Amino acid sequence: MAKNITSSSTAEYFSKNLQQVGFSSQTKAILTTLKESMDNSLDACDEDGILPEISVEVEKIGAGTLKNSDLIRVRVEDNGPGLESDDLVKVFGEYLASSKFGRGRCSRGQQGIGISAATTWAQMTNATGVKVISKTKAMRLAISATIEVDIKHNKGVMKNKETLKWDKPHGVSVEFVVDGRVQLAGEGGLITYLTGTSLVNPHLTLKYKLLDQDEVTIERVSKVVPTIPEATAPHPHTMKLGEFMAHSHLFGRVTIAEWLKKGFSRVHEGTLKDLVTAGLKKKILTTSVDKAHESEFKEVYGALQKVQLMAPSTKSVLTIGEEALSKSVLRLGDIDFFSVVTRKPTICDFKPVSVEIAVARFKARSSEASESAVQVLRFANRVPLQFDKSACAIVKAIESVNWRTYGLTQPKDSIPLGPYVIAVSLVSPFIKFKNASKETVDASDELVDELRLALIQAGQKLSRHIRAENRATDLEEKRRHIEQFGPILVDGLCRILEAPANRKKKAEEGLMKLLGRDSRSIEKELAQAVEGREALIAKQQALLGESMPDGEKADVIDVDKMAKEASTEDKETNGKEDKKSSKSAKGKAEKPVEKKAKATAKASSKKSKPEKRV
Ligand SMILES: Nc1ncnc2c1ncn2[C@@H]1O[C@H](COP(=O)(O)OP(=O)(O)OP(=O)(O)O)[C@@H](O)[C@H]1O
Ligand SMILES: [Mg+2]
Repeated sequence: MAKNITSSSTAEYFSKNLQQVGFSSQTKAILTTLKESMDNSLDACDEDGILPEISVEVEKIGAGTLKNSDLIRVRVEDNGPGLESDDLVKVFGEYLASSKFGRGRCSRGQQGIGISAATTWAQMTNATGVKVISKTKAMRLAISATIEVDIKHNKGVMKNKETLKWDKPHGVSVEFVVDGRVQLAGEGGLITYLTGTSLVNPHLTLKYKLLDQDEVTIERVSKVVPTIPEATAPHPHTMKLGEFMAHSHLFGRVTIAEWLKKGFSRVHEGTLKDLVTAGLKKKILTTSVDKAHESEFKEVYGALQKVQLMAPSTKSVLTIGEEALSKSVLRLGDIDFFSVVTRKPTICDFKPVSVEIAVARFKARSSEASESAVQVLRFANRVPLQFDKSACAIVKAIESVNWRTYGLTQPKDSIPLGPYVIAVSLVSPFIKFKNASKETVDASDELVDELRLALIQAGQKLSRHIRAENRATDLEEKRRHIEQFGPILVDGLCRILEAPANRKKKAEEGLMKLLGRDSRSIEKELAQAVEGREALIAKQQALLGESMPDGEKADVIDVDKMAKEASTEDKETNGKEDKKSSKSAKGKAEKPVEKKAKATAKASSKKSKPEKRV
């Protein structure tokens, strides 16, 4: 028989399992500390309708206590609404304390674990908590304090509380001193996270100073604060029986009929009639929820599963938007083509979701870049995903598309090759992550198919552009040849035939006439190709208004038209591919590593052109 059964607090559990929430290596520990702080700052600004201005400092201040580690100071400061003094202990020192848990809104944070885990890491490796400064609009002076986690009791402890003058009207500053190692570039690098975050948050102004590098500023390209849509009530078909019954406790003494109408989406008066037709006793509907028995809840639940309901609403989904994403993509580096696809929110696995895609091509095309896998940037609720990509729905969808059809090189069932970046943003109030550290999105067949559709639309636009480019290059080449060899040909023919001077002159004239006609038709074709390109660029400029930098020639997708074309073109070219998509998305091995992050990181560290960076 089991003896000495003990129970432990949530904080005890996480302090022993910090690897589950992003602290699984020394480099990841630093990235996660930064990420949790910055994601919170962005969420807080979005919630309060504030245009975020965030500054980040990462500094090496000595040797760490762990083997081969450095002591690193990570500081993140925001201009968000600030936190009340009483809330500081809960936010930074208590697990599962959150204003976002289970709300059904598109926020970066969901669980109430992130920042307390960072405090715990600081405590475990450096025996200090997090140093916080906070000021709300109502406070005259800011509060400064150190917060620690009381691990035994899952409670926050406040130390060294002081008030101080702070030149900010409101905001929060957090400072962690932790063991770890700083990785700047590459998939798990800090710059990859920071530049990626700017890409999908066009309204963010970000300043960062990393180690001994120059400070970088990435200015916002949009002044629109995203309005995070209100959560919609749960849909009865997305709930399990236990959840359904627990949901009733939120409604006190109303009748079951009232509870169903108020507490769920897509349930109306007509639905109640349908429930009775489906066999539910009318009397149950008039019973008060606080008096209803388990058997009655079961009957209501069973009847609800039998009736037809409208699909869940997609109103609670936020999109970045084509215009903002287009402007943002232009900061990725020196690019000469891009297309953006913003798909309308849809339902996948009963949950609303929106997919947005940007495909861009870098100007510099070294042979190394042409042979490397394209750079894939993945985002979930506007947070970069940097690990475990092979299992991710986004990567599976990219691999399942036949990019060769669109003019790219692609090893079988892999990420395509070339100097491109494919950025995929997924936004949903209910993203199904594969792990608590929110690194990989679960690859359900429905979600992979929705992602594929968006990728195919982007691919079609890209292929049209590549074809037009190839045509223009071919025509130019032909013209060059004719101009070069035409006169030599005339001269040679006349010498062979020993033609008199007047015949040679005539032949020259005739041939030149012929060549002239050829050249003119080539010129005409060339002019048409150039005209076509210019029309596309004009369309792009109309979309982006004044902000399109001079000389950046780019292109954008007409989504509605594309959607129509996608359905016809797909039937012709991708019919087979579509059918096999969900099958082919399954069970693939890890694919070649994306390499462009290095280049982006390099570009980001140059101070002179901050607006070009992402
Ligand atoms: N910089 C900040 N400004 C204002 N409020 C904040 C800030 N940081 C955290 N909070 C508040 O503290 C709560 C807890 O943060 P925490 O990171 O632990 O959880 P979360 O963001 O809700 O979810 P997750 O664990 O997924 O990150 C947040 O829900 C938010 O209400
Ligand atoms: Mg958080």
